[in-house]
Amino acid sequence: MRYADLYLLSLLALQLRLCFTSTCPLVLKTNAQVERRLLNEGFHRDLETTVFLSSPENLQSCIALVKDIYPPGSYVDPNQLRFLKPFGGPDFYIPQMINVETPEHFSPRIMAYYFVRPHPMDDGRWLINMTIPVHFRYHRARSGTSHPLEVGVRLPHPLIMLQCEDVGGDACRALAQLEPCPPSGRDQCEWLPVHTFSTSEAVMGIIPVGNTDLLDTVLVTTTCVTAGATLLILASLKKKT
Ligand SMILES: *[C@@H]1O[C@H](CO)[C@@H](O)[C@H](O)[C@H]1NC(C)=O
Repeated sequence: MRYADLYLLSLLALQLRLCFTSTCPLVLKTNAQVERRLLNEGFHRDLETTVFLSSPENLQSCIALVKDIYPPGSYVDPNQLRFLKPFGGPDFYIPQMINVETPEHFSPRIMAYYFVRPHPMDDGRWLINMTIPVHFRYHRARSGTSHPLEVGVRLPHPLIMLQCEDVGGDACRALAQLEPCPPSGRDQCEWLPVHTFSTSEAVMGIIPVGNTDLLDTVLVTTTCVTAGATLLILASLKKKT
């Protein structure tokens, strides 16, 4: 055999060994089923996220990272989330400044990291169940004759990762990714990505959009009402004097 062939063979052997020995069941055999519901109506809603984790490992020592990206038509309010923490709200980290006033077309996507501990269920799976307030932003008004006067803002499902104390070892560490640390995201930690799937479509908020065709009517109405009110006030003042 030539030297090059030997070299290739040894490489192949090394690869095979890696395949069989470097297994990390926590990453390769854990599934996260994500389901979501958007509760209430209007611009201010509650987003319920339920995650069912199935794993051959005991997840007792694990913390889950729920990594969300909100589109420009929506936001979460860090002050509100901070307020909710003592009432059972999750630990979270939002790296950006959030402007709660800007309309959709002046707003960025928002990254949010939630840190939650899974709880054992009766059927052997582990459960994460969190509800957080989400808000939709105003959209630029448009002509009602050429566009529908509602838009759908789709909230994609989150990614799920795990951080566990005693599960995994080196084989798992090789698969880790850096993401913010619990509970407040100040440093970067190693997280293990798990296979995330859902049986349902991403939830969608349906938001009314202003109609530019009505702008003239609105202006005229406002002017008339204001003028009428002024006249009334003037009249009552006159009566008194
Ligand atoms: C999650 O929590 C909500 C409200 O607290 C509850 O209605 C719902 O049944 C819970 N989901 C699961 C799967 O336990």
